[in-house]
Parts: sequence; C-alpha cells; structure tokens
Amino acid sequence: MNLLEQIKENAKQYGKRIVLPEGTEERTIKAADQILAEGIAKVILLGNPTEIAELAKKYELQNIDKATVIDPIAHEKKESYAELLVELRKSKGMTMEQAMKLVEDPLYLATLMIKSGDADGEVAGALNSTGNVLRPALQIVKTKPGLTTVSGAFLLLTEKPEYGENGLLVVADCAVTPEPTATQLAEIAVTTANTAKAIAKIEPRVAMLSFSTKGSAKHERVDKVVEATKLAQEMAPELMIDGELQADAALVPSVGNQKAPGSPVAGKANVLVFPSLEVGNISYKLVQRIAGIEAVGPVLQGMAAPINDLSRGCSVSDIVNLVAITACQAQGL
Ligand code: ACO
Repeated sequence: MNLLEQIKENAKQYGKRIVLPEGTEERTIKAADQILAEGIAKVILLGNPTEIAELAKKYELQNIDKATVIDPIAHEKKESYAELLVELRKSKGMTMEQAMKLVEDPLYLATLMIKSGDADGEVAGALNSTGNVLRPALQIVKTKPGLTTVSGAFLLLTEKPEYGENGLLVVADCAVTPEPTATQLAEIAVTTANTAKAIAKIEPRVAMLSFSTKGSAKHERVDKVVEATKLAQEMAPELMIDGELQADAALVPSVGNQKAPGSPVAGKANVLVFPSLEVGNISYKLVQRIAGIEAVGPVLQGMAAPINDLSRGCSVSDIVNLVAITACQAQGL
C-alpha cells in the first residue's frame, strides 16, 4: 500500500467532518461523492441545496445524499455564527451588520463552523485564491497555542528511493509566509518535522536549505538560515535539524560527506526547509512539472484546526487526497 492509500485507510477510521465551502464546484462535488462512497470522511457541502441536487443529477453522483448540505444564505445558525464573528473581531471594528454579510461567504462560514465545533476541518481553493482561503482561517481559527506562523508543506513522492525517506520528501514553506524571519523559519522547521511524523510517519531529518553549506558563502540571507537553524535546534532539541545546507549537500550522501562531514542530516535529509516562500513555491512547481514528481499538498501547518488549500489547477483525486490528509490532521496524529 503506498503512502496516500495508507493515509486514506487511516482517515476512514476517524469519521471526521470536513467542510467543503466550494460545494457547487464540479471537481469538489465529484470529490465529495468519492469521499462519501469510500467513507474517507463525513462531508459538509456549502452551497445552494437545489443547485447541489441538480449537479449531483447532472454528474450522476450516487452518494451526495449522504452529505450534509448547508445553504450559506439561509440556515438556522446564521445569526449565532455572526455573533461569534463579532465577538472574535470586535477589536478590529467588526459590526453585526458586516458579520451578517460575511457569514454568507462560504469561506468565512466554514471557518466559523470549525471554531464553533460544528466541523473538524476544511478543504477549499479549487475556485478561490490561497489568500482568500487563508485570510478567514488566520483571522478566525488562528494559530495553535504557542505558535505564531502558518506555513504550507508538500509531500513529494519522488519514486527515487536514493533520496529522502525511500523517495519521500516533506518540504516547506511552499504556500504561506512570503519572507519569514529567522524565528518564523525555525518554527516552520519544527512544524514541518511534526507534519512529517504525523502524516508521513517518518523520523524527520531536517535540512535548513540555503545557497551555502556550512559557511561556504557569506551573505545576510545565509546568516538568516544559520540563525534559524540555531533557534530551531533550541526549540526542538530532540529533533535532527542541521544547516545551512545546499540542496545537493542535504540529499546526496557523497556531497553531504564532503561539504558537511559529521552532520546527522547532510546527505540523508527527508525534510527540506526553504529559506523563503519564493524558493519553496517555485521549487515544488518545477519538480512537479519538469520531473513529474507527485506533489501532495499544501498541507497547512501551525493552524489551530486543519484547513487546507487546493491549487486552482487541482484534480478530483487531489481533493480526495487532501480531505484524507485533513481528516488525519484533525485526529491530531
Ligand atoms: N501565520 C499566522 N498568522 C498570519 C500569517 C502567518 N503567516 N500571516 C498573516 N497572519 C494573520 C495576521 O496576523 C492577521 O491576524 P489579525 O487580523 O487577527 O490581526 C490575519 O492573519 C490577516 O492578516 P492580514 O495581514 O490582514 O492578511 P494578509 O493580507 O497579509 O494575508 C496571507 C495573509 C493571505 C497569508 C498573505 O501573506 C499571502 O497572501 N501569502 C501568500 C499566499 C500565496 O499566494 N501563496 C502562493 C500560492 S500557494 C500554492 O501555490 C500552493
């Protein structure tokens, strides 16, 4: 059984309630049908119930009647969610009038359902940009206690067993924090290591990537990675974290031995932390497109409840996979 099949099998045991705000989007409703058919999660679809029923008929979906369908415009808890929104955002000047409008936005409604305990996780982004999915999540669900930074990891399934953990690499941040400080980078390293443990079930060996290995280049951007490495080691002394390392020194044993002898990570890293979002986002898309590597994610980390964002180019199976991952995160594994 490959990693994704294992993740889906695990999700089936948890029965988590995952809200899909883009309930009338073609790939989303088809994914919902498959998720319900396979029993991967309980599905809450947001959207006009008549439209959802018509789409289910049009696409010949057999399982949508097992979903809970909630109409964002007219549902019984609208006012209580709006009150919660005012309570959470009153310091930012939120009025009841504004809140009553915002709860009609499925992306806000989904996060308010999670905050109220009416859903366990959310997957969105087939239609909406990352920023639009993330903003209500960051404002309402917020970060886990003790954390300040949300980031996005990808599982890269390389099918090249000589790299990472039998071909698997967990990499971040590819999705959220454009220019992390050294402290944020350290937090991203630790949360990515935890994602690697929880989702991929591997013992993380974390490389803090740079264009320099152990002082080979001098630049303020290198200094930031050196500082982040030190902070991450202090935050999680039990983890194997090393840097600064170039990508080849992190992944290839002969290069790692030569450039960073004695490092517990060099040459055998299975978790890669990029120095900025630019590097992370560009790198994962290049290996995905040019090398044909399956990239699963982004898995958002650091949030108080699992909310995951899809690429707008996602497929039905990408949505199914991300819902399974979200259910596993919701189980707190
Ligand atoms: N971690 C935790 N909290 C955050 C973060 C973060 N990285 N960034 C912002 N916040 C919080 C803020 O503190 C604020 O909280 P508050 O309103 O309670 O004070 C709230 O989120 C909203 O912050 P804003 O500054 O109003 O929102 P902003 O417009 O900066 O948006 C966002 C934040 C959406 C994450 C922005 O940084 C962004 O667009 N990042 C890039 C996303 C992206 O486009 N990724 C690439 C595509 S993804 C892909 O290809 C897989």
